Amino acid sequence: MPKGKLRVAFIGAGGIAGAHMRQYAEMDDIEMVAMADIHPAGMEKWAEQYGIEQSFSDYKEMLRNVKPDAVSVCTPNGLHAETSIAALRAGAHVLVEKPLAMDAREGKRMLDAAKKAKRKLVIGFQQRFDPKAQFVKNAVDSGQFGQVLFGRVQALRRRGIPNWGVFGRKELQGGGPMIDIGVHVLEVTHYVMGSPKPVAASGNVYTYLGNKKSNVVCQWPNWDHKTYTVEDLAVGQIRFENGATIHIESSFAAHIEKNVWNFQLMGEKSGANWDPPQLFTDDNGYMINSEPGWLPRNQDFGSIFALKMRNFVDHVHYNKPTMAPAEHGLMVQKMLDGIYESATKGKEVAIR
Ligand SMILES: NC(=O)c1ccc[n+]([C@@H]2O[C@H](COP(=O)([O-])OP(=O)(O)OC[C@H]3O[C@@H](n4cnc5c(N)ncnc54)[C@H](O)[C@@H]3O)[C@@H](O)[C@H]2O)c1
Repeated sequence: MPKGKLRVAFIGAGGIAGAHMRQYAEMDDIEMVAMADIHPAGMEKWAEQYGIEQSFSDYKEMLRNVKPDAVSVCTPNGLHAETSIAALRAGAHVLVEKPLAMDAREGKRMLDAAKKAKRKLVIGFQQRFDPKAQFVKNAVDSGQFGQVLFGRVQALRRRGIPNWGVFGRKELQGGGPMIDIGVHVLEVTHYVMGSPKPVAASGNVYTYLGNKKSNVVCQWPNWDHKTYTVEDLAVGQIRFENGATIHIESSFAAHIEKNVWNFQLMGEKSGANWDPPQLFTDDNGYMINSEPGWLPRNQDFGSIFALKMRNFVDHVHYNKPTMAPAEHGLMVQKMLDGIYESATKGKEVAIR
């Protein structure tokens, strides 16, 4: 059934809001009506580029005046809960950028608010839309693995401390590489494993470089080391109700040969690698390595981001299923919380 345009607004109009706008701009059934940010300069650029007519310095005023159908929440993590809940209460569906919130307590309040307001809340995970991830997921779902026993998650930069935004400030972000980039590979690994329920976590975090001035030549030099209060490296293990485990390594500044962005799965009957996509199994008395003969080429950031944005619009505007329910965001958040809590306490912690 043909529908009118979905009227979309933005809370937070920085870097990732631009990625949302780029995708919405390609859609005939979207009208970008307003944005709110505490820094007006950034909004002027978007207003010009995408013709977004209304800009506000106060997101509450924006919600009151504009009454958007849907909101992209693109603020630093520390504002995800407050702004998403306000948007839901104002009657908008919400696509909140990853991670869901600062912690699972906030995340639960967001899910409750969505339920109460009878609005949809979607977590902005995009890695699960990657055709390579879908290839592995299909193999898992078809039973080729038997039980998936172990996932190894790696989101490691050799020297990639963000030199923009507030990514080094724990009070605004909740943590460092684990919550910022580990979350991406963790969410997709957990998704292909069938989203099992996490029950316990252990972890360690280390800060040794980000809080110091550095003159090493790198892609993003001169980060704000004076306000850097997050970890440089986090490692952790998560146990699931079905007996499976995940081991995760995430870093902005690891002393390794080069960046790693990958997961591996090990199951009873098969294993897999995400990038490059490969399956490892036994057949006719041989160990077989296989790979897809062809996969859709849309595997880069822009392409999988496009799929995420389209899925959100299809979900809220046409009632199609979401591939990234807020519940998945909350489970992942509990894992992140568990790793950080365990690192503080120095022992494994239960996840409830
Ligand atoms: N999905 C992805 O691949 C991806 C990539 C990058 C960032 N992100 C997420 O997006 C979020 C934003 O990251 P970013 O890179 O765009 O950061 P950014 O610093 O470029 O943008 C954040 C914007 O929020 C604005 N802001 C701060 N306080 C505000 C308030 N009270 N009201 C309205 N606006 C406010 C800032 O002025 C800034 O313009 C983070 O949660 C991050 O984790 C996701």
